[in-house]
Amino acid sequence: MDFRNKQKHRGAWKTRLGFYLAAIGSAFGLGNLWRFPYVVGENGGGAFVLLYVLLALLIGMPLLIGELMLGKLTRQSIVSASTSLNPKFKKYFAIISRSSIALSLFILAYYAVISGWVLHFLTQFIIGMFDPGILNQKAHMSVLSKNGWLQMALASVHLMITVVIVLRGVQEGLEKWIGSVMPLFGVLLFLLLLKSLSLDTSQEAIRFLFYPDFSKLTLSSLGHAIGHVCFTLSVGFGTMVTFGSYMGDQDHVPTAGFRVAVIDTVLSLVAASLIFPLAFQGIQSPVTDPALLFETLPQFFMNMKVGIYFGIVFFSCLYLAALGASIGLLETIVSNFVDRKNAVRSNAAWLSGFIALFLSTIPALSGSFFKSVKFFNKSLLELLDAILINWCLPLIALAMSLMIIKGISAKDQKKMFIDDNKIESVILYPHWVKVMTWVVTVVIAIAMILQVAHLFV
Ligand code: PFF
Repeated sequence: MDFRNKQKHRGAWKTRLGFYLAAIGSAFGLGNLWRFPYVVGENGGGAFVLLYVLLALLIGMPLLIGELMLGKLTRQSIVSASTSLNPKFKKYFAIISRSSIALSLFILAYYAVISGWVLHFLTQFIIGMFDPGILNQKAHMSVLSKNGWLQMALASVHLMITVVIVLRGVQEGLEKWIGSVMPLFGVLLFLLLLKSLSLDTSQEAIRFLFYPDFSKLTLSSLGHAIGHVCFTLSVGFGTMVTFGSYMGDQDHVPTAGFRVAVIDTVLSLVAASLIFPLAFQGIQSPVTDPALLFETLPQFFMNMKVGIYFGIVFFSCLYLAALGASIGLLETIVSNFVDRKNAVRSNAAWLSGFIALFLSTIPALSGSFFKSVKFFNKSLLELLDAILINWCLPLIALAMSLMIIKGISAKDQKKMFIDDNKIESVILYPHWVKVMTWVVTVVIAIAMILQVAHLFV
């Protein structure tokens, strides 16, 4: 297959580091710090953590490599890329790629609401510098969850910031923003981790996190783990196809996939090890609640000397991590509009931002206006999370793995494994094919069947 005639003039990362920082910036976000700890709590701790790490390497990483490969080969974002693939399956590929974009839009809306929560806590800590009493009154999730309109307002501010950055294009927008702050966040997390591990609950927390008790797993745990792996590594959305399309010719796709997957997974483990000693200190909300991060950390900061400043730096960094991820999502949607429909970048960005804002009403108003709407004892926010991440995302990831394996010729796939500096790197290729064809598909299919069964027992 010759993809070259499909390649238009396209932005590219200025430096290899630029690609890594942006890809890690997209992968590392609320999924690691906010979602991972409470999903671990929901699924009983250590056994789930083990499952998650295994699946990140066995399913997440091969898919990540596949998406980057598709982008780098075609130099297109996912919808256009899918039209350059094996024409025999054209119709299916069109459905798969469009579904991933629709999912990105829904997730962007949902993500904007949670990013708005981060903005709320950040502003409370900033105000708290001048009026410390405010933190006790306002820095609580209960204040936010009841106030749906405040959540909408915060989500719209977040979406506006995201749109403005994406408008400015690949190099200036993405690289500069995300790249500079994440290393600082890494250092801060590490410092907080040390402090949290010095608490007397840390032993119990570490045991809960790393001692696998398989009896705690449920029939849904496998599906939850796969959903979270895909979410946290940003696979199944087409994001990594877009990022791959900006990669330099000399960049080695499998190495990039490996690094991004490992760094992101390590950061999730750090986040959970930081949160759980605090969670075991007798906070009001259970460890299974989406409010977990926002109930534990502000209290922790308030009890610390100069904690307000730690709070400000932490929530600023968390906000930038959320912004990096949102930029990745919006960039994926916009680049598809631009590549496929020749849309003007700014129009595409504003339009997508507005649609996301409209969709965000559902999660934002879930604790107020839609408070009485409950299914399976779950609020609308939790339900949306479950449908999008535990069900839709694994199914799209499964379809995507088939699209990559069946759509790209073996010759082109293999080309992506050749690294001029390390000739032997190509021996990995047949393993990757086997894992994508058999492991990814079969494990996701089993997970979905078990999840369906769990609905009935
Ligand atoms: N991986 C991000 C996180 O863990 O927070 C979420 C995300 C970002 C998903 C970008 C998809 C995406 F395109």
